[in-house]
Amino acid sequence: MIVVFQRFPHNPCIKSTATIRKTKSRPNPPSREQATDARLGRIVRLMMEHATMVVSGTKIAQEISSNRSEVWRLIQQLRGLGVDVAGHPATGYQLKSVPDLLLPEILDPLLRGTIFGGKIQHFYKIGSTNTAAMAAAAEGAPEGTVYIAEEQTAGRGRGANSWHSARSTGIYCSVILRPSLPPSEVLVLALAAGLAVRTAIEQVDARVKPDLKWPNDVLIDGKKVGGILTEMNAEATGVRYIVAGIGLNVNQSTFPAGLGAEATSLRLTAGSEWSRVELTAALLKSLDREYRQLIEDRDARQSILRRFAECSSWVQGKEIRVEENGTTLEGTTEGLDERGFLKVRTSRELHTVLSGTVRAK
Ligand code: BTN
Repeated sequence: MIVVFQRFPHNPCIKSTATIRKTKSRPNPPSREQATDARLGRIVRLMMEHATMVVSGTKIAQEISSNRSEVWRLIQQLRGLGVDVAGHPATGYQLKSVPDLLLPEILDPLLRGTIFGGKIQHFYKIGSTNTAAMAAAAEGAPEGTVYIAEEQTAGRGRGANSWHSARSTGIYCSVILRPSLPPSEVLVLALAAGLAVRTAIEQVDARVKPDLKWPNDVLIDGKKVGGILTEMNAEATGVRYIVAGIGLNVNQSTFPAGLGAEATSLRLTAGSEWSRVELTAALLKSLDREYRQLIEDRDARQSILRRFAECSSWVQGKEIRVEENGTTLEGTTEGLDERGFLKVRTSRELHTVLSGTVRAK
């Protein structure tokens, strides 16, 4: 196996990964995580189509070409996922409420006409959707493929951080993009993803106005509600693929000790539960719009930089401290340059921040 590491000085914000070339002697393919049994989605869809009725075990068994005891087993799995199903094998089954699961059968109809329609890969539990999406992209998964999970056991954040990904409370999704862009343009795409998150939140509840912290944090009242991890595989002249991984704290009512002071959720902000299905659909539609504009319209880059600056209290006139490559820099922000990097006026110079964690001074 030959591993080729590639680094792009224009884009230290975006993690570049190794290209792995497999030799023929490789004994086993890498193990794959198990996507959610597609029959679960078909059962949910059938029960949603008959929302006010009890659906017999026989009818469900026909739908999934199986038998009633298998239906019972799958219903138990759905209950384990938090779906509220009444009934038992003798009488049939009925949904007590519309489940807020991010199943392809529920999301796909809402994503028609976008690059993501028909390309949802759903996981009940996964290590990291970004890791899985990067592996799938390396093996040729098409643009628009979405890896989405109810729970991550090894969710990754920027730098060496992890991403707390409790079951069915947040949105944990990674999308595969294959833009014909030079690596130097990819930061703008990452900023556009932040705008897409903000737009989606506002569309679902116009009272909530998140702040964007450069490059990829989504904040409410100074606390983190979402983050974006962008990874790419590219050569010097062009991008092969990008994975944009988005984590959003939606219905968490508490966070583990140590995170509580820094993190918040939409539920904690608005005081009531949010529909993850509605928000995920809004997010992917908004991301689709931003992405298409960026690759189709020459003026889109300027528009993204301008709108990011408008939506962020951090880009202009903010006193900040940045840790970049082991050194700490202090100054006042003075906008974004044409590639999307952050300009900071220090006591000595106008410095361009290429990467690192920005904090208020
Ligand atoms: C950050 O702010 O540090 C970025 C957090 C990104 C988290 C998301 S959750 C879905 C995707 N899968 C991962 O392992 N990470 C990203």
